Amino acid sequence: MRKLIVAGNWKMNTTVPEGVELAKAIVEKAKGLPAGVELVVAPPFTHLASVADVLKGSKVCLSAQNCADHEKGAYTGEVAVSMLTSIGCQYTILGHSERRQYYGETDEKLVVKTKLALEAGLKVILCVGENLDEREAGKHFDVVTAQTKNVLYHFTADDLKNVVIAYEPVWAIGTGKTATAAQAEEIHACIRSVIAEKFGAAVAEDMTILYGGSCKPSNAKELFAEKDIDGGLIGGAALKADDFLGIAESF
Ligand code: 13P
Repeated sequence: MRKLIVAGNWKMNTTVPEGVELAKAIVEKAKGLPAGVELVVAPPFTHLASVADVLKGSKVCLSAQNCADHEKGAYTGEVAVSMLTSIGCQYTILGHSERRQYYGETDEKLVVKTKLALEAGLKVILCVGENLDEREAGKHFDVVTAQTKNVLYHFTADDLKNVVIAYEPVWAIGTGKTATAAQAEEIHACIRSVIAEKFGAAVAEDMTILYGGSCKPSNAKELFAEKDIDGGLIGGAALKADDFLGIAESF
């Protein structure tokens, strides 16, 4: 059975006290959420331990936004997967377009990070998505196919049980410009076929594929109604508990 997930990527927003308050509000409101939808929050590194305390005993999962590409050692400023699991982190986002664009995250690095994360028992939310130039040039299927293959084809069907893919068209992130449900669905279906090609139809069927990019309560229903869209990776709207839960109630 494919899992439905709504994940909030807080990016570089909120102070620790603000983040704790936001997490508390989400936990409170999540009590009314029907079973079968998993909620995940991804605060900045500095918040993780405090937010982990707030989430204890709730059904909300904790995610990091990134992890180091080394196990430990002299890598100033980096955070290792063992550090994340030690405070109860269950997920990490990897390959977000902001990291690809501003911090030189490559598919090669993502293979290493994904391997480290999975070995440590972290689930991975792997982001893929084309930028505006690539979409306008009609290359969006090729870009997303390559990003998916370049990372996930290094893993096994068993590994993929702990991977979620997030399709985030860069032109839709933080712009208020959402991909139409049809535009998102055709890419999600393409990603699923890329998974099926190597790992078989059953593995592809079970893969959770999220949409991200200006997703909000007002458009989530239409997006989530598509057969290959299994939830969302939410930026701006994840910073307000009501909006975040509003999205989670859109299935
Ligand atoms: P917005 O929802 O703010 O467009 O951000 C999407 C995103 O990048 C989530 O990772």
